[in-house]
Amino acid sequence: MTVTASAPGKVILFGEHAVVYGEPAIAGAIDKRIYVSVEKRGDNEMNISSSHELRDGYPYVKAAAELTFEYIGDGCGLDINIDSEFPPASGLGSSAAVSVATVLAISTVLGGKIPKEDIARLGHMVEKKVQGAASITDSSVTTLGGVLFIKPKLEIVEAVNVREIPLVVGYTGKAGSTKELVESVNALRENNPEVLDAIIHSIGRIAVKAKGVLEEGGDMGELMNINHGLLEALGVGTEKLSRYVYAAREAGAAGAKITGAGGGGCMAAYAPNRQDEVAHAIEEEGGLPLIVSIEDEGVRIETG
Ligand code: PMV
Repeated sequence: MTVTASAPGKVILFGEHAVVYGEPAIAGAIDKRIYVSVEKRGDNEMNISSSHELRDGYPYVKAAAELTFEYIGDGCGLDINIDSEFPPASGLGSSAAVSVATVLAISTVLGGKIPKEDIARLGHMVEKKVQGAASITDSSVTTLGGVLFIKPKLEIVEAVNVREIPLVVGYTGKAGSTKELVESVNALRENNPEVLDAIIHSIGRIAVKAKGVLEEGGDMGELMNINHGLLEALGVGTEKLSRYVYAAREAGAAGAKITGAGGGGCMAAYAPNRQDEVAHAIEEEGGLPLIVSIEDEGVRIETG
């Protein structure tokens, strides 16, 4: 019997980089998912395949399998197949999504039950094991779905009560290295602590204000534009990202910013009633547009 679990990708709406220094951030699951199908084998081998060209040896899938075997107290040989609706390694949370979907698929094949908070915890452990360090943002969002307000100091997340957020993501075709970008912000801060601390604090204030705007109404686009300017000030912008951001705004997006680590990767535009026009404008600039909205459901078993 094949069991398929899926988990959504994510965008950071507000607060990337500042969240590394303890400021709050807001991230949302997107309606593009990764699917992990698992079937028991007769032997003890693990055979992993993927529809995308992933030649990285599947470290996330392997670590997720190991931790799930440990958690359930059982194991077996497996055929695992991965399918994705969004590009991997683009800053859209594919690593966390594939990790938590693997945990749920394998635990289900083994007849075990894992509560969501433990799936998120195992997903975070996988990311830490593979990358050395990781925040709880991606593993929480992909497990729980919806929009989350992240409080990094307390390592807790709160659901943000929001209906629809029509977005267009623009992918540059190649993600920057999150680790190197975080280090570059740190170096800039060491040279200019009084300036950088004020910028980082301002980004945190934007996330707090944005939570209220998302829940009660207000101009979210304006806050995205301010956040983009501050990310530029942190030095994580690129010419391509700026071109997509300005093209999106000119095509009628209410706001647009870098999403994630920057240095390449993706930008995101908030585009109520203008998603097609904004996607077209990003494409004209050479970007890969992805029309997305917020996905309420996190990791789940696919039936049928
Ligand atoms: O590009 P991503 O999805 O890896 O996002 C990185 C976000 C940072 O705030 C820069 C780092 C982090 O761990 O929160």
